Amino acid sequence: MNILRAKTTDLFQSKLSEKQKQNSALNIKEMEANLTKLESYPRRIVLEMTSACNIKCIFCGRDEAEFNQTYLKLDVLDKLDSVLDYCEEVTLFGWGEPTINPKFKQFLQKLNKKNVRKYFVTNGTRLDKFIDDIFDYKVDIIAVSLDGADAKTNDRIRVGAKFEKIIENIKAIIAKKESLNLSYPYMNFVFVAMESNIRELPKMIKLAKELKMQEVKVVFLSAFSTEMLKESLYNKQDLVKSVFDEVALLADKLNIKLKLPYIQGEDIAGDKYHKPCFVGWRDFFIGSDDSIRPCQSTSLKLGNLSDFDSFELAWNSKEMQDFRKNVNAENGGGEYANSVQTLLPKLTRKLEQKVKLYSNWQCICTRLGEKEKRLIFGILRILRILEILKIPTQNLLKTIFSFISFFIFPLNRRLKPYLQTYLQTHPSPSVEVRYAN
Ligand SMILES: C[S@@+](CC[C@H](N)C(=O)[O-])C[C@H]1O[C@@H](n2cnc3c(N)ncnc32)[C@H](O)[C@@H]1O
Ligand code: SF4
Repeated sequence: MNILRAKTTDLFQSKLSEKQKQNSALNIKEMEANLTKLESYPRRIVLEMTSACNIKCIFCGRDEAEFNQTYLKLDVLDKLDSVLDYCEEVTLFGWGEPTINPKFKQFLQKLNKKNVRKYFVTNGTRLDKFIDDIFDYKVDIIAVSLDGADAKTNDRIRVGAKFEKIIENIKAIIAKKESLNLSYPYMNFVFVAMESNIRELPKMIKLAKELKMQEVKVVFLSAFSTEMLKESLYNKQDLVKSVFDEVALLADKLNIKLKLPYIQGEDIAGDKYHKPCFVGWRDFFIGSDDSIRPCQSTSLKLGNLSDFDSFELAWNSKEMQDFRKNVNAENGGGEYANSVQTLLPKLTRKLEQKVKLYSNWQCICTRLGEKEKRLIFGILRILRILEILKIPTQNLLKTIFSFISFFIFPLNRRLKPYLQTYLQTHPSPSVEVRYAN
């Protein structure tokens, strides 16, 4: 059976204009050539509508990276005007619930003036407020996150959500879609698989069928806190495999599209730190605070959109080019990661083993607060200068700096539990699970 995978370079297929087709083809070529300065525009713009939410799921990583609660401003679209003629899709997605942005409807309305696919990911609780807008502004894809096939499981995990209400909302959209005889919106469930809900996956497939939804997409839980460790599916391959085998057959039988993550040990990243990252080429992510980030999973900022006079300058900024240059570097994170690795080994052998896995600097950055990031990057820059100047005291200084950063500053407290929990919870040393949707 051909199993579809979540988080690949592929995007949803729809009819594209000549301009879009040519741009996408060039973008893929430039990505494959690993270019850092791109002639093509991104294939997809991702807009984080807000970092705030109306519910509180037990696993959500929203609070982990010290995001301030902000709402994306509508005028961000003015700066994107030129790129919206070339890119295929605008996805309203990030940490937070997009439908609570007070300008959510206006975003859809403005985007509908362009020939782009419109896609949003939602907890489904407020869909009833936008039913007409979904059709008036031709929303192509709606992903509804649901983590249980009944109220008991879903509402325990998605605290504040009401299963019955979400199902009612989905039914209303599908009823209108049928009455208008339309093929959009394409609707799918996103299911975060964990110990306490994975056995409900077959019921999720049946629910999707019953509701006439097209797809169920499964992602593994990333445990952001020690409390969530017990929910991790790490090292539970037998359970995962038996459920995945069952749902693959069921989905096939019921004609529901199913997207599954790789089972631990089968990951295409193999023994690399992470599989190649493509978001810096294919996507352009704008956080709800106007920041440019590589993707939703990290709080690493590559500048602010408003700092640039045009989209083109932001797309090929020094920061974006550096990111493209470093993200897939052999050691998994370029010069920063390299330096982190140089700093650590002398401290403890055991920790080094773990840090090696985290040498992906995005992961490290995700978990650090602004102050800590400034501190470590400051130290790393000083070390770079010392290296360039070939100052002989550098080894001594490195040891002193690493000692300071790990034992005196709060960095140690923040980083260490992360390293431990990440190792124990991630089904594989791959960041792919972090690139949700
Ligand atoms: C952060 S939410 C934002 C959109 C919306 N609020 C929602 O829940 O669909 C985007 C997706 O990330 C998933 N997600 C959040 N925290 C996660 C975690 N710790 N592990 C895996 N997926 C997670 C959610 O279930 C959802 O499908
Ligand atoms: S609904 Fe989405 S953003 Fe809100 S807490 Fe749940 S996963 Fe996080």
